[in-house]
Amino acid sequence: MRTSVLAGLAAALPSTFAYHGFNYGATNLDGSVRVQSDYEAQFNAAKSLAGTNGQFTSARLYTSVQGTTGGPNSAFAAAVNTQTSLLLGIWISGNPNIQTEIDAILSAASSQGSAFTDLVAGISVGSEDAYRVTDLGIASGAGPGVDPQGIANYISQVRSGLSGNSALAGKPIGHVDTYNTYANSSNWMAPVVEASDFIGMNAFPYFESTKANGIENANSTYYADLAATEANAQGKPIWVTETGWPSSGPVSGAATASVANAEEYYAQVGCSLLSSGRNVWWYTLQDSTADASVPSFGVVSDLSFTPKYDLSC
Ligand SMILES: *[C@@H]1O[C@H](CO)[C@@H](O)[C@H](O)[C@H]1NC(C)=O
Ligand SMILES: *[C@@H]1O[C@H](CO)[C@@H](O)[C@H](O)[C@H]1NC(C)=O
Repeated sequence: MRTSVLAGLAAALPSTFAYHGFNYGATNLDGSVRVQSDYEAQFNAAKSLAGTNGQFTSARLYTSVQGTTGGPNSAFAAAVNTQTSLLLGIWISGNPNIQTEIDAILSAASSQGSAFTDLVAGISVGSEDAYRVTDLGIASGAGPGVDPQGIANYISQVRSGLSGNSALAGKPIGHVDTYNTYANSSNWMAPVVEASDFIGMNAFPYFESTKANGIENANSTYYADLAATEANAQGKPIWVTETGWPSSGPVSGAATASVANAEEYYAQVGCSLLSSGRNVWWYTLQDSTADASVPSFGVVSDLSFTPKYDLSC
């Protein structure tokens, strides 16, 4: 009986379930630290964005620790209240004690139980840490990073740190970095890929200013990045952890930031990814700063959460 009910459901659902959502930084537009009510407002807004059929129900986070107060990220409780799934993040660059991050996840799992753990799509150990130690990252002043072997070591630490919690032990653990670190012809990221269950890939044709990176080439550039990452992925699934195009901001090589270009990027790259069966966390729902010199990737402009352009596919 149960089997036939499930079979009926499966026939009615898309063939593969995929997580779709946005990235969420730790600060609001005005620079204040996001608290639970901020995250709840954003998670609810993401689910009700015009034209998106309520598909943006997942949140990628960069850290598991709450801003200045410590303890679990308040986004966890907001996710429970809004039924938002989570790609958890563990901050490792320049972080001498990642155990604090692991403890924050364990603490939420013990206080909230399956209401929290059922929402966990996976855990990313780090974010763009290898990129920051490449020549490109150093030249752009990206700050401290971690080399691939160091990232792999942190992944093992997280794996063993969570292994005692049966609800978390089976969750996919991986890493997020820029496509060019994975695509490196020397296969520099092999230790990270080996240690990971999934490969989180960030790729932004807008920033690839050494190429002909105008919007007219953005789709082909994006898919070339994805193919180059896949070639070194050892068969591990690639999760789209960040991509997008800014609606305003500086010129980047041949790329211009504009609402029209952001809309075109979303229509081409966004819509094709969202229908591909991949997990996608778009960059991003709302900016984390109002600084006009920082490209504005937010798909909504303000607290009314009105899309800047058409988000239907
Ligand atoms: C490529 O790998 C080499 C090590 O083999 C490293 O020094 C370099 O920074 C890497 N470049 C990128 C863009 O990942
Ligand atoms: C973008 O590139 C992919 C991969 O080559 C292709 O399948 C898709 O049709 C392209 N989309 C557009 C809008 O050109």
